[in-house]
Amino acid sequence: MTFKNNEIKILSPATVANVSCGFDVLGFCLDNIGDEMVIRKTNKKGIHITKIEGHDLPFEAEKNVAGVSALAIYNDAKPNFGFEIEIYKYIKPGSGIGSSAASAAGSVWAINKLLGDLYNNTQLTAFAMKGEALASGSEHADNLAPALFGGFTLVKSIAPLQILKIPTPTDLYAAIIHPEIEIKTSESRAILPKEIPLKNAITQWANVGSLIHAMHTNDYGLLSQSLNDVIVEPYRSKLIPHFNAVKTDSLKAGALGVGISGSGPSIFALTRGKDIAEDVVEAMKKIYKNTDIHFNTYVSKINTNGMKII
Ligand code: HSE
Repeated sequence: MTFKNNEIKILSPATVANVSCGFDVLGFCLDNIGDEMVIRKTNKKGIHITKIEGHDLPFEAEKNVAGVSALAIYNDAKPNFGFEIEIYKYIKPGSGIGSSAASAAGSVWAINKLLGDLYNNTQLTAFAMKGEALASGSEHADNLAPALFGGFTLVKSIAPLQILKIPTPTDLYAAIIHPEIEIKTSESRAILPKEIPLKNAITQWANVGSLIHAMHTNDYGLLSQSLNDVIVEPYRSKLIPHFNAVKTDSLKAGALGVGISGSGPSIFALTRGKDIAEDVVEAMKKIYKNTDIHFNTYVSKINTNGMKII
């Protein structure tokens, strides 16, 4: 653990947004998949990004997601010192598992620790939304909230910002495949309809409600029935080659439900227990092994803590 008074090293977790029926409001946090960041107090005022490894990202704080959110908290707290940020980027930008959110949430969480916990997680989410907006062009918090609060979260409203932490059944695991194709969040938002039929809206809000009930009551059967998205998935799944085959075979392998992780291209499944998650990942791999698309897979317990000091 690195937490001398002037420096902190953290693992800022990857996250899955939307969780099928909860477009822009639901999300959950992954374990041991994330970016590492070192944040250091400096005599020199301001926010300075001094190191970026893993991916090619801008060093100017105003153009960098971690920098923009760091500036938001810094300009509010107005300390008489500054911060240096080192970013070790392990979550590939554009993978659909909250890469920009990890950068945005990580910098504000670590700075808040060095400021002596001035702000609560909801306030930190508001600062981090500034960075997330730079990446995706819209202020949404469904990746940020689970990264900061841990576990499952529901963004009840953006203005005023209200976030609910939902209890997580203990045996819940996620299986994820990231097919390495590029899908920009802005483009996958642009293809969505502006209006939806009432019939679909009814199905969707019934699923969100029953999913939340299932989480509170550890009801894996109801959880499985609730993981359906009749609004967004029909449009976005067309952007992900072999999505339907991955979904069918993952369900056959025992997944409770399968959906697009955030705006894609990653696909997630939720399972009861680690063994089934591993079977599901094998089923997912089989589909892409027969194609020329490269992929990465992950099996993860739901991380109910969020950020980790390492
Ligand atoms: N809720 C967002 C979307 C998550 O699906 O567009 C991606 O940033």
